[in-house]
Amino acid sequence: MASPILVQTRDELLEALRALHAKGERLALVPTMGFLHEGHLSLIREGKKRADKVAVTIFVNPTQFGPNEDLDRYPRDLAGDLAKCGEAGAWLVYAPQSPREVYPEGFQTWVQVTELEMGLCGGKRPGHFKGVATVVAKLLGLFRPQLALFGQKDYQQLAVIRRMARDLDLGAWTEIVGMPTVRETDGLAMSSRNAYLSPEERQRALSLKAGLDAAAARYEAGERQAAALLAAARAEVERGADRIDYVELVDADSLRPVERVDGPVCLLVAAFVGKTRLIDNRVLGS
Ligand code: PAJ
Repeated sequence: MASPILVQTRDELLEALRALHAKGERLALVPTMGFLHEGHLSLIREGKKRADKVAVTIFVNPTQFGPNEDLDRYPRDLAGDLAKCGEAGAWLVYAPQSPREVYPEGFQTWVQVTELEMGLCGGKRPGHFKGVATVVAKLLGLFRPQLALFGQKDYQQLAVIRRMARDLDLGAWTEIVGMPTVRETDGLAMSSRNAYLSPEERQRALSLKAGLDAAAARYEAGERQAAALLAAARAEVERGADRIDYVELVDADSLRPVERVDGPVCLLVAAFVGKTRLIDNRVLGS
């Protein structure tokens, strides 16, 4: 497969996009922070099925990292990512050469999705979703794609992005597509941050998925009380994780905590294995 076009400045990007839009081609956008794995590639491949061209963005967005988070050591591999994008059929990769390209001098406009960003990862990582919603709004405005694809692995992020696109009318031109979580063969949800795990931690990281499976098994057996489902999940996560950030059962749309399962809900886990913070989730009752 041909290598994608690499653009690193906003001006070059606009030139390529103007030509594409003038031809009336359908564009799919896949925003990422790079260090690509099969989860990212599944979004590119689906984009390719649904559009004429797929654009991938690779930008480790500083505004979504907290002061004590892993911005500086976030894994990067532009050459490897370009090759993978090419194999998956991407047309163009936008990898801004510096954060200034995205946040120029004087930048001062922020997007906040006030309710959906409050709990879960938003509660534990203040400002995180403000950074995510702002950069994704900018990318949707810049690319004006017919569709943009995101993973359900980041369940709250997807909910925040859907709401933001609806509320700011960016969704009028762009369909937001959610895609299933891609896992390693042993069940671990793929994540660029899995690269931080030692072999021993990698084994213990399976406890997140085990927690979701344990709760799902109780649900299948007829349990509907949140407290019992959460206890089943926690017990498994605690076996491998060094610290649980949260285990919560929430309404699948509003993300508000539920006491019983009466409709679609999502069970979400965030936990530290060593110094690495991992997340996973599973929808029940849909
Ligand atoms: P990143 O973590 O690189 O993820 C980019 C996209 O890939 C997101 O939509 C994410 O949900 C999806 N993804 C990650 N792991 C996945 C998996 N195992 N299966 C399926 N999809 C997966 O999420 C971000 O970057 C950033 O917050 C971003 C949206 C790019 C804004 O900066």
